[in-house]
Amino acid sequence: MPAKARIPAFGCQERYGLVWVALEQARWPLPEVPELENGTWATLWAGPYRWRCDASRQVENFTDFGHFPWVHPGLLGDPDRPVVPRHQVRTEGHVLHYAITRPEAANTDDFPVFGNDQAGPPERRSRYELHLPYTIVLRLGWGGERGMVYFFASQPASPDRCAGYVVIGRNYNLDQSDRVLRDFEDTIFGQDQVVVESQRPERVPFDLAAELHLKFDAVAVAYRKAMRQNGLAASDAP
Ligand SMILES: [Fe+2]
Repeated sequence: MPAKARIPAFGCQERYGLVWVALEQARWPLPEVPELENGTWATLWAGPYRWRCDASRQVENFTDFGHFPWVHPGLLGDPDRPVVPRHQVRTEGHVLHYAITRPEAANTDDFPVFGNDQAGPPERRSRYELHLPYTIVLRLGWGGERGMVYFFASQPASPDRCAGYVVIGRNYNLDQSDRVLRDFEDTIFGQDQVVVESQRPERVPFDLAAELHLKFDAVAVAYRKAMRQNGLAASDAP
């Protein structure tokens, strides 16, 4: 084969409606999200949300519990209930596991997208898997049969550019137009974008001494540690 006729080949896989490409040998398999493939859950896509920041910032934003009442008041958080409940992070290889039951805002008339009933102060049970480096699986429940799964992957484009892809599955509101949830995500990601794009440096500092971490930053601390341990921190990047 003449050298000029050769082109590089890359490992490629289509899953959850997204095309995944490994520019080098893939280190880990893609996350398993059976809810998005079993055919009985309603699924939709939102984004991509193209932000002027590193993918690590977009990922940490998705996992941050403290900001909900302040950045998304009335939509994802209740400013009258700002305390972040206790939570622990278990790191297994390249996957961080953590769960939290936290106060959330009531469903609004504009965006009736979640499965919580309105009987008391609503609470949301959230189980997270953060797959290094930039993928998150979030399962939401409200104590009953209703379930929702968020699949989020941030695509790194450059040191200060990324694109966030969202796939959402739910086993309720099956007849609801996708537009309701997609408009909701556009609103939420728009609120986050303003804050995250103002953060400096554009990539999260993986040195834990570089920023002040408090108890409710447990996920960010575990994320930064795991990224370093797996050779994915900024200082290890080419
Ligand atoms: Fe947010």
